Amino acid sequence: MDRLNIIGGAELNGRIPVSGAKNSALKLMVACLLTDEPITLTNMPSLADTRFLAQLLETLGVEVYWPKGESTCHLNAAELKSTIAPYEQVRKMRASFNVLGPLIARSGHATVSLPGGCAIGARPVDLHLQALEAMGADLKVEQGYVKAAAIQGLKGAHIVFSMPSVGATEHAMLTATLASGETILENAAREPEIEDLADCLNKMGAKITGAGTSTIRVQGVEKLHGTTHAVMPDRIEAGTYAMAAAAAGGDVTLDGCPVEALGAMIAKLREAGVTVDADEAAQTLRIRRNGTRLKAVNVSTQPHPGFPTDLQAQFMALMSVADGTSIIRETIFENRFMHAPELQRLGANILVRGQEAVVKGVPHLTGAPVMATDLRASVSLVIAGLAAEGETVVNRIYHLDRGFERLEAKLNACGANIKRLSGEDE
Ligand code: UD1
Repeated sequence: MDRLNIIGGAELNGRIPVSGAKNSALKLMVACLLTDEPITLTNMPSLADTRFLAQLLETLGVEVYWPKGESTCHLNAAELKSTIAPYEQVRKMRASFNVLGPLIARSGHATVSLPGGCAIGARPVDLHLQALEAMGADLKVEQGYVKAAAIQGLKGAHIVFSMPSVGATEHAMLTATLASGETILENAAREPEIEDLADCLNKMGAKITGAGTSTIRVQGVEKLHGTTHAVMPDRIEAGTYAMAAAAAGGDVTLDGCPVEALGAMIAKLREAGVTVDADEAAQTLRIRRNGTRLKAVNVSTQPHPGFPTDLQAQFMALMSVADGTSIIRETIFENRFMHAPELQRLGANILVRGQEAVVKGVPHLTGAPVMATDLRASVSLVIAGLAAEGETVVNRIYHLDRGFERLEAKLNACGANIKRLSGEDE
């Protein structure tokens, strides 16, 4: 199993290019199921998760042409040969579940495994299923699979979500494009990736308005066609590098950064005493911290445009070395503090009580072997390792490879000292 060896203490100076957004790419790839014409996605991040979804799409009969190392992915679902998404594929990556609605819309039926729990909480799919049922799908759950059919076809529906779910909003929006009549989604999630998906679907001939607000309207059309779409830049990757620079100190500029999508994080970094120059027109974010210690600030995760849950672990790493006590509240997922005990191994002082973590900043962290537990948790350990004195070894970094493209190359180009080692866990 690969691991990362980090020698901490070096400042970061230089520029980091932001890759295409994983969370957007995954849903854009699924959109190819809605048409028999080719879809070309550019600015694709080559990650374990996107490669993995490509394999599932191939199982369903999609022709995928995406050579290694290239950022353009061609998808052609001219003919589907299966409408079954097996357990092994959906369990490993929850976003695979979003093929269900598009398969029903395209083929009239589908059998898709339930995703099951995940490390960061129960994460049910009840809102996804309610939306599909409202659109006329008959659903049965048998042996861990959702068996779905819409003999009469799907029809538009008025769906009021009980909470804003990114996945359920996207799933309902994808499916509604081919349903007859109008679908209205209320209390929809407002994450920027939803707008990116709507833009692509509209280029394919869909009629979607309101994406990015809490009410989305979809006028169903009979057929969608092929298109080319550039995946939006990854705001979570960008936010992660911003925090790495803030933790290590130095002067880093992020290029191709979705500045407008990072308002809440930028505000928190400034509150913590980091100098942030945001240029929306140029899509650059410059992060500077020279010598002065960070100030502790409180944060509470919220649906967009609030502070993203996907940056909570990274912010905790940062607050571990801040001056004072910071209270970090996680309101989106019920079990998303697994990084806290690992950060403690580096000397952080963190007390978790329920949905809250009380972080008492310490002047210095010291390197230690630690274990990655999920995608965002693992990168928080890298950030802490960069700020720590001495050597940190992050084990189980396959979590990291799910969502960060060329992480060590990007950080090392700015002066970090990170090596990837192969072999057994320590
Ligand atoms: C997406 C992102 C993930 C991010 C999360 C919240 C992708 C691939 N993943 O995940 O990185 O952390 O948004 O910003 O885009 N819920 C239900 N029932 C449902 C669906 C969700 O109760 O049917 C709950 C979840 O358990 C969670 C909350 O709603 O507590 C938010 O989840 P959701 O927005 O759906 O997250 P994902 O789409 O799974």
